[in-house]
Amino acid sequence: MNRRAVGGAARGAASSLADAGAASAPTPVEVADRIVRSFGSFKTIPEVALRATEISSDPSCSLGDLEEVLRRDPTLVSRLLQLVNGPFYGLATEVRSIPQALLVIGLKQLRTLVLVDVAAALVGAREGVAVSGRALWLHSTAVGVFAQMVARRILGVSGDDMFLCGMLHDIGLVLLDQARGGEVVRAFEAHRSGGGNMCECERAALGTDHVHVGVRLAELWSFPQVVRHAILHHHDTARYGSGELEPADLLVVAHHLASELGYPEIPGHVVAPPEWVLVHVAERELEYRALAEDFVHEMKKADRFFQRAPRASRAGAARTR
Ligand SMILES: [Fe+2]
Ligand SMILES: [Fe+2]
Repeated sequence: MNRRAVGGAARGAASSLADAGAASAPTPVEVADRIVRSFGSFKTIPEVALRATEISSDPSCSLGDLEEVLRRDPTLVSRLLQLVNGPFYGLATEVRSIPQALLVIGLKQLRTLVLVDVAAALVGAREGVAVSGRALWLHSTAVGVFAQMVARRILGVSGDDMFLCGMLHDIGLVLLDQARGGEVVRAFEAHRSGGGNMCECERAALGTDHVHVGVRLAELWSFPQVVRHAILHHHDTARYGSGELEPADLLVVAHHLASELGYPEIPGHVVAPPEWVLVHVAERELEYRALAEDFVHEMKKADRFFQRAPRASRAGAARTR
């Protein structure tokens, strides 16, 4: 993957990493680390989900290895089978076991479902202060669905990773809002009234931002590299590559279009897209118009697909504390 001049929050993350330990005031990385580590119920990803993610990311693993791990959490298996048999996949016959599910949806998709289940547990576990859990869930789903559609229909690639990136890109905001919601509210107010971009306002109010918190959480939980990269760059305005869209660029495009189609990160507040996004979309206007129409239907399916997941996972989150 090409390197690019990082901007916004990513530049803040890079410079604060270099500065760590040099300044007397805690850096955004240090503050993020403290928040993640001090927030009890977020400290550990359920062990089975963590092992399942690691195994399914390892090309040398076997399906038997994954099944062996998943068997240790019958509740997780039950939720995964509910999701596989839900309307999103539209399967003709019911899938009743993990080996069957693996044959139908594949290893990578199963990893996606495990991580989405974890995200649902986080969002559903507590209600946020600055952003409602449901609104953030819908925003994340919308970005994931849109990014996957762009990957498949405009770039001609599978897009499974893009769905996962979209679902998890704001995981840091979930934690930050629930840990220090009052300061996030003040940061949002400053952002809305022109006090800077969202991450700058968060850093001014909290000493860190949801990008730093998300990256730290993703490191701690061994999220796939592509997801960590998406979290780090999702508020960048600069393009990553000069040719076809890189995954980080694609997520930025999806983030802006999903926001304009009714699913912004901050409810009622749509940020203007960078110039390169406008140019990219204008060059493919007909494709994006068709895609936007289908996005509405996909969101209805996705909403039904996830309707039970946050509720079911609330029990799972409570169980793992
Ligand atoms: Fe964000
Ligand atoms: Fe977002």
